[in-house]
Amino acid sequence: MLMNLSHKKVLITGGSAGIGKALIHELILQGVKEFAVVGRRQDKLEKLKVDFPQAEFILIAADVSQLEDVERIIKTVSTRWDHIDLLINNAGVISTGSLQTISDADIINQININLTGLILLTKKALPLLLKSEEAGLMNISSGLGYIAKPFYSVYAATKAGVKHFSEAMRRELIFENIHVMTVYPTATDTDMMITSKIENMDSAELVAKKSIEGLLSKNIDVILGGEQRLKDIDTNINRPLEMDEIAKERYESYRDKTEFHRAM
Ligand SMILES: NC(=O)c1ccc[n+]([C@@H]2O[C@H](COP(=O)([O-])OP(=O)(O)OC[C@H]3O[C@@H](n4cnc5c(N)ncnc54)[C@H](OP(=O)(O)O)[C@@H]3O)[C@@H](O)[C@H]2O)c1
Repeated sequence: MLMNLSHKKVLITGGSAGIGKALIHELILQGVKEFAVVGRRQDKLEKLKVDFPQAEFILIAADVSQLEDVERIIKTVSTRWDHIDLLINNAGVISTGSLQTISDADIINQININLTGLILLTKKALPLLLKSEEAGLMNISSGLGYIAKPFYSVYAATKAGVKHFSEAMRRELIFENIHVMTVYPTATDTDMMITSKIENMDSAELVAKKSIEGLLSKNIDVILGGEQRLKDIDTNINRPLEMDEIAKERYESYRDKTEFHRAM
C-alpha cells in the first residue's frame, strides 16, 4: 500500500539548502505541513519560513556531529510533538583529494557529520518514530556509497557506511511500522558542488521528486543516474577489476575534478 503523507510530522537534517530544501518543497506539494529542520546556520534556516509560508517549522540550529546537539534536537522536537512520522537524514559534507592531502580535521568531521551524527540521531529519534502509526526513515547516501572512486576515499567510506547502516536498520526494524529507505544521488547541482568541476548534474528538484516517489511507493532504494549507474553497480560488484580499468583511464580527470572540491 502507498504511504500516506498527509498530516505527517517530518524531522529533516540539512533542510536549509540543496537536496534537503528540495525535499521539503516536494513534501509540501504532497500535503505535508509540519517540519522540524536542522542545520548549523540560523539565517539559512530562517529563510525557510519566507520561502514556504504555507508550512509550519520548528527550526533547530544544531550540528549533527555533536552529541549534545543531537540530544537537544530530540528534546526540542519532543516538547512540541509526541511522535515523528518521517526522519530524513540528509545533512552531509564533502572534502576530496588524495588521502594524504585531506586534512585530519576534514577526515574526522566528514565521518562525524555524514555517519556518526546520522546514526546517533536515528538512535535517539527511534522512540518517537516508533510512536507513529506509519513511519519512514530516509537516509541520503550517494552513488559513491555504491561505487568508490579515487580521491573520494573518506566521503565514499561515510556513504558506504550509510548504505550498510540503512540495510541493517531495515532488517532490525522489519517487524516495526517503519519503512527504511536509502537514496543514492549522483552529482547534483547544489552548494556542495560549487568547488567541484563536475558538469551536467541532476537538479535537487529531480532528486527530491524521485526520493518522495520512492517513499510513497515504499521502495527500499532510490538510485539516481539512470540505467548506466545500475550497470556500473552490477559491474562493480561482479567484475570490480573492470571498474579499476575505468579508474585508470579517468585517473587524471578524477584528480582534476576533485582537487579543490570541499564543502564542510
Ligand atoms: N550534491 C551532490 O552532488 C550529492 C550527491 C550525492 C549525495 N549527496 C548528499 O546529499 C545530501 C545533501 O547534500 P546537498 O548537495 O544538498 O548539500 P548542501 O547544498 O551543501 O546542503 C547541506 C545541508 O546540510 C546542512 N549541514 C551540513 N553539515 C551539517 C551539520 N554538521 N549539522 C547539521 N546540518 C548540517 C547544511 O546547512 P549548514 O551548512 O547551515 O549546517 C545544509 O542545509 C548530503 O548528505 C550529500 O552528501 C549530494
